[in-house]
Amino acid sequence: MLDVAKIRKDFPIFENHKNDGKPFVYLDNAATAFKPKCVIDACSSYYLEDGANAHRGDYDIAYHVDQKVEHSRAHVAKFINAETHEIVFTSGTSMSLNLVAFGYGIKYLKKGDEILLTEAEHASNVLPWFKVSEMTGATIKYIPLDGEGRCTPENLEKVITNNTKVVSIAQITNVLGYKIDIKAMSKIAHKYGAIVVCDAAQSAPHIKIDVKDLDCDFLSFSGHKLCGPTGIGVLYGKFDLLKKMDPFMTGGGDNARFDMCGNVAYLEPPAKFEAGTQNLAGIYGLDAALTYLESIGMDEIEKHDIELHDYAISKLKDLENVIIYNEHADSGIITLNVKGVFAQDEASYLNSKGICVRSGEHCAKLLKERLKVFGTIRVSTYFYNDKNDIDILVNALKEGGNFLDAYFN
Ligand code: ALA
Repeated sequence: MLDVAKIRKDFPIFENHKNDGKPFVYLDNAATAFKPKCVIDACSSYYLEDGANAHRGDYDIAYHVDQKVEHSRAHVAKFINAETHEIVFTSGTSMSLNLVAFGYGIKYLKKGDEILLTEAEHASNVLPWFKVSEMTGATIKYIPLDGEGRCTPENLEKVITNNTKVVSIAQITNVLGYKIDIKAMSKIAHKYGAIVVCDAAQSAPHIKIDVKDLDCDFLSFSGHKLCGPTGIGVLYGKFDLLKKMDPFMTGGGDNARFDMCGNVAYLEPPAKFEAGTQNLAGIYGLDAALTYLESIGMDEIEKHDIELHDYAISKLKDLENVIIYNEHADSGIITLNVKGVFAQDEASYLNSKGICVRSGEHCAKLLKERLKVFGTIRVSTYFYNDKNDIDILVNALKEGGNFLDAYFN
């Protein structure tokens, strides 16, 4: 396993957050991840040293910002094996997926077309497609999940038709934590002429991504879940698709000229999709976050997640009062309940012990039909968690049954 004690020294929060004298066991990394000092410094360096706008100024400091922004873009491209001009900076995964839905979906889909999703998707990968369906008449269909709640290529084969135009799925789902075989999904989808949109919000922080190998058409992720700043994210798109889709937000910086008759000449992607002043400090911070993750190693991070997952499952399975919903997850996401206790009550109890987890539906509101439960506790680890964190959680859960009078069915 990774040397967690050494790694934690890179994260000021572990020193600075006193947690009211309780232990500090942060297990909500699927919601957001902590930031190492190098990321905080990179963001500060924009404000402390650079400060100018990007792509607009004819003076040294502005040129320097341009260079830093383009360096970050090239780094993102390398991180996922894309080309630099295929990387669009957005505010996060939600904006990236909305950009595909509104920029591509609204423009190219029509009545009779089909969009394939799964019940396990996060709201960000469902609601934009509902809008596309509403505005174009295209139909939303769901790829059936298997008995464990996984989306499989076999099940995609069962529902895809020649009318399918978009298959939009998470590479790692945010509640069940299964890793979906995007490469196999792309192969099937492309056979039917559909594009594949990959929501990598939960995968990009944890596994190595190679968009050329996956052959997905679009891929989105957020900076903040991979130790980067909030408010910065990425949309990768194959260049020919980016070229033919529309911006869903327009303004300064995305065009070469426009006239009083309404004629507009947009710049080539990615500039076409980056109207307005970008989150420049965020772009600096994202660059630093990727450097930091690379110094740990994406393969090492994935290995650590799995080892911790397996350790946690082996301990949790001994607890008779705990129901686990995704024992075989391929990530650090474990979803559970304590028998007879509302998830939110359990999360509050865990908080009293210094443990941070998420409770409820986790924005995946279609999943409750399948789980047959109103809410769950989601435990999600990262490379700065260790077995001691899991032991503290397991001990708290052991004591954490039947202490409240609120029950779910
Ligand atoms: N998308 C984040 C989560 O699943 C916030 O918790």
